[in-house]
Amino acid sequence: MKDNIMEYETVELDDEDGSIVIIDQTLLPGKTELIRLKTAQEIWDAIYFLKVRGAPAIGVTAAFGIYLLAKQIKTDDYDNFYKEFKKQKDYLNSSRPTAVNLSWALERMEGICLANKDKRVGQIKEALKTEAVAIKEEDIWVCKSIGEYGLSLVKPGDGILTHCNAGQLATSKYGTATAPIYLGQEKGYHFRVFADETRPLLQGARLTAYELLASGVDVTLICDNMSAMVMKNGWVNAVFVGCDRVAANGDTANKIGTSLVAVAAKRYNIPFYVCAPTSTIDLNTETGSHIRIEERPAEEVTQMWYKERMAPEGVKVYNPAFDVTDHDLITAIVTEYGIAKAPFETSFQEIFRKKKKEKSKK
Ligand code: MRU
Repeated sequence: MKDNIMEYETVELDDEDGSIVIIDQTLLPGKTELIRLKTAQEIWDAIYFLKVRGAPAIGVTAAFGIYLLAKQIKTDDYDNFYKEFKKQKDYLNSSRPTAVNLSWALERMEGICLANKDKRVGQIKEALKTEAVAIKEEDIWVCKSIGEYGLSLVKPGDGILTHCNAGQLATSKYGTATAPIYLGQEKGYHFRVFADETRPLLQGARLTAYELLASGVDVTLICDNMSAMVMKNGWVNAVFVGCDRVAANGDTANKIGTSLVAVAAKRYNIPFYVCAPTSTIDLNTETGSHIRIEERPAEEVTQMWYKERMAPEGVKVYNPAFDVTDHDLITAIVTEYGIAKAPFETSFQEIFRKKKKEKSKK
């Protein structure tokens, strides 16, 4: 057992064992249990049941997952290999619909199969491993870079509000929305952070408050319906949130309740920043209304986190896992290649141009 939750890897590959090792996030903060995922069903379940969650961490898990499943395919024939690969890829891709990082990572892995179709199946499997490891390594750099850009938007002593968990537990390191907080912490910025508890699955209370506290950050937990009050009190200088999919016009899907925070921030003139790896920006999705929003079981609202059921039997429940924040409520979108501002269409073009240029140098 390690002393601090921050010392654990969110998602790790144990290639020799043929497994992905994750922290079961449904048990945090009460219990730190590492679990091993080997089969397609185990990987699918871990993503669906939020044992591993957060857009970037889902992407890394999918990449390791499809590599391990590809390794189990017993054929030397490319066509047979690819057919089975596609089947497994589509299955993993069906685990959650909103976070684009899932399909983004799986597409990247499929691209490796296609680009190496003339090679032996064994060599393709090796190339898949290299790509999956690269996806995880890149995630660390991406989050750090988002943190550096994000830090340029705030000053020492600021109050920062965040929603859900876009922290280290949702990524490979630093988190996205928490990256400016962690980098600021290293520089002695002494931020005061407000973490929304984030109903119904409490990612803010169970995960964000936990990891910030474990890192020595000054964090105050509030219920979701308290954010307007702390804003009105003048305690919040900036809001930082993560995202699961950003449409081409800047509309952003993130954990349910995010858009309410954005509306309140606008009312109180507080900048609202979305931290978005470019892998989460989906230029193929025109606007937020085209983003598929995951709906989850009613039990998550009525009973899951209570000792006993807290809603009458038979009541109708609506439980969307995400909402879309309209782009005009967003002050800026912080990516690893710079800060995008409205009009986001043109700003994204600039960001992706920079990404292409930097990548071509490597
Ligand atoms: O349902 P979850 O816990 O996967 O939702 C997570 C979020 O909404 C995060 O804010 C988002 O994935 C960004 S994580 C860096």
